Amino acid sequence: MVAWSVTRYDVIKKLLTDDRVSRDPRQHWPAWYNGEIPPDWPLVSWVAVTSAFTSYGSERARLRNLIAKAFTARRTAAMRPRIEEIVAGLLAGLEAAPAGEPVDLRADYAYRLPTEVICELFGVPGHLRAETMRVIDAALDTSATPEEAQANVEGMYAAMRAIADYRSEHPGDDMTSGLLAARDDESGSRLSQEELISTLILMIGAGAETAVNLIAKATHALLTHPEQRLLLESGKATWDDVIEETLRAEGPISHMPMRFAVEDIDLGEGVLIRKGDPILVAFAAAGRDPGLHGDSAGTFDLTREDKEHLAFGHGVHYCLGAPLARLEAAVALPALFERFPGMRLAVPPQELVPQVSFIANGHQELPVLLR
Ligand code: HEM
Repeated sequence: MVAWSVTRYDVIKKLLTDDRVSRDPRQHWPAWYNGEIPPDWPLVSWVAVTSAFTSYGSERARLRNLIAKAFTARRTAAMRPRIEEIVAGLLAGLEAAPAGEPVDLRADYAYRLPTEVICELFGVPGHLRAETMRVIDAALDTSATPEEAQANVEGMYAAMRAIADYRSEHPGDDMTSGLLAARDDESGSRLSQEELISTLILMIGAGAETAVNLIAKATHALLTHPEQRLLLESGKATWDDVIEETLRAEGPISHMPMRFAVEDIDLGEGVLIRKGDPILVAFAAAGRDPGLHGDSAGTFDLTREDKEHLAFGHGVHYCLGAPLARLEAAVALPALFERFPGMRLAVPPQELVPQVSFIANGHQELPVLLR
């Protein structure tokens, strides 16, 4: 399978507001609707779903409207005290780690907060959480074998069905219950079962690993740039600077599969994307484009005035969870560095191993010495 990877900021912005680019394989990807994509294709879980994420035009607007309704700004803001509480609990857990022994800050901190938050928001009961997170994590491994990929899609649907079934029987003040009850204002329609399950995959998937890598990459950046940390400590830079500069220089999503050309798209400079061609947008590359940020685009610099990035996307599919992700990082990062001011990497930076994925931009582990 060959797809375009679009890496330039200006071209990405143009394509993301162009009606000739669709996320719907059912209408716009000939290989899909002609049955040429086998059920064990490694990226199948990214296209086989029917949610706002994989639809086009009025259908996309309807599905997005239904989730936006359940995912209100009020609900996000109301999460702050709970996020602070979770962070306090995680820090106490880290505190209890034996002195002098490295801890994996990704697994034991960065990963724990967003996954806990998303499970609470969606009312995922305790007994279903481990399996839910297992299938979400597996979808990011773009090196999965066909057998693994197929098993994972099946596991993903089963995990989401279990959550929906549980909340049908035990409705609460959570977003799954909200989605089960949500109705479209104009048509009065509800989400179909397929749309509901796909929407849970979208929301729980999007809400988990992405913010994990924001917190872990920001921590990594500060640990490997002591001069930037000093700026923060002396008040010459803020935690918002850390969050935005991390999103710019280390966007948590490298590529988000998939888009398709509805018609031929002539980008000029001799580049023609043909009707039906699959397209990947390299969100993380946009913030590092020298065309936007000049020669210093690759440098982590809290003082740079313009931190423009596309880490949360652009246009009609712009990330619904951006305020929540920023809030999680804004609570988690200062609390961590205040509690462990002497924290440092436990291995040389070059020994850190990237995730095996062209979707997620993160390290597999972040071993640190806390004190
Ligand atoms: C740092 C953390 C995050 C990053 C970097 C991120 C990034 C993105 C990006 C790049 C897109 C656009 C996809 C595209 O156009 O192809 C997106 C969409 C989306 N994100 Fe996020 N996201 C983050 C956190 C979250 C959280 C916490 C949630 C929810 C709880 C969330 C929910 C969504 C949803 C629902 C969409 C799809 C919207 C649509 O297709 O209409 N995201 N995100």
